Amino acid sequence: MIDFQTDIPAAAIMHSKRDSLLKRLHSATVSPAACARKWQGQYWQTHGDERSVSCATCRRFDAVKQRCTIPFGTPLRKCVVSSLEAHFHDCHGEDVLEIGFGRFKLARNLVTRSGGRWTGIDPQQPASRPARLGTGGHGLANVLPFENQTFDRVFGVQSIEHWGQRAGGLREPARYEDCLQEIARVTKPGGKIYFDAPIHFHGNEMFIVGDVQRVRSLFENAYWENVHIERWRENSAPLLRYVPSDKEFKDWPVEIVSYPADQVEEIRENGVVWLLVVTATRTSTSTSTTIN
Ligand SMILES: C[S@@+](CC[C@H](N)C(=O)[O-])C[C@H]1O[C@@H](n2cnc3c(N)ncnc32)[C@H](O)[C@@H]1O
Repeated sequence: MIDFQTDIPAAAIMHSKRDSLLKRLHSATVSPAACARKWQGQYWQTHGDERSVSCATCRRFDAVKQRCTIPFGTPLRKCVVSSLEAHFHDCHGEDVLEIGFGRFKLARNLVTRSGGRWTGIDPQQPASRPARLGTGGHGLANVLPFENQTFDRVFGVQSIEHWGQRAGGLREPARYEDCLQEIARVTKPGGKIYFDAPIHFHGNEMFIVGDVQRVRSLFENAYWENVHIERWRENSAPLLRYVPSDKEFKDWPVEIVSYPADQVEEIRENGVVWLLVVTATRTSTSTSTTIN
């Protein structure tokens, strides 16, 4: 029985052994053809110039059992899985770059199984393992070690919010303008990009406060067209709201420098964690004069 009044704190979701086995099993056995059938056509509702995927109408929602059919992961990870199934089931003939691939293989398996070639970069890979086409290696979003116009698709899964992160001190926060110019440089004209990130959770301040217009403005320039924002699980009814976690709060004062304290307090008290997905197409008009 679902308690509709209670929220789920992010910190309360356990990453059990069973959970991680189920996650790996799903990635290992995922079928692009089955995903294509499940996600064909319009799976979102349109609100103004944005798209919203609410739990009640999500194709991964079981209306009889009143639950999400993805049997592992936090509520946010379930949305990530759904969104990847919807966006990556057909990469036939494409060269695809994943930025910040970590250890999660679902997107990589969808790319390769649907006929694409996957390449990945991540700063956590050893520097002795340089990035190379067709495999994973060391790299950063703001210095992509690839030729101009190499990729048909560039994407990141829960990675973009960390590029300009201040807390943690692993490296200097990158400038989003530099990262997106690099991504524009390595993307072929007409190529596609996809980035997803949690809202009201962690990473750069614009994602924590949910400043969607600021995120969108990163893509409103000569490099990109057909920019779309998708909001997954912002409306979670009849499932529980997923709320910001105490564990993440400690970094908020370090990250958030441009927004008033009362706005941040309101998010802390009443915010709902949801998944933002931004997609766009690389313009065909040449902007190569500004790209080295
Ligand atoms: C939360 S993890 C997500 C990993 C994986 N994509 C997933 O969904 O499980 C964030 C990833 O972004 C990478 N990352 C952080 N800053 C980056 C940067 N400036 N450029 C590229 N990747 C970065 C991290 O090394 C890490 O692997």
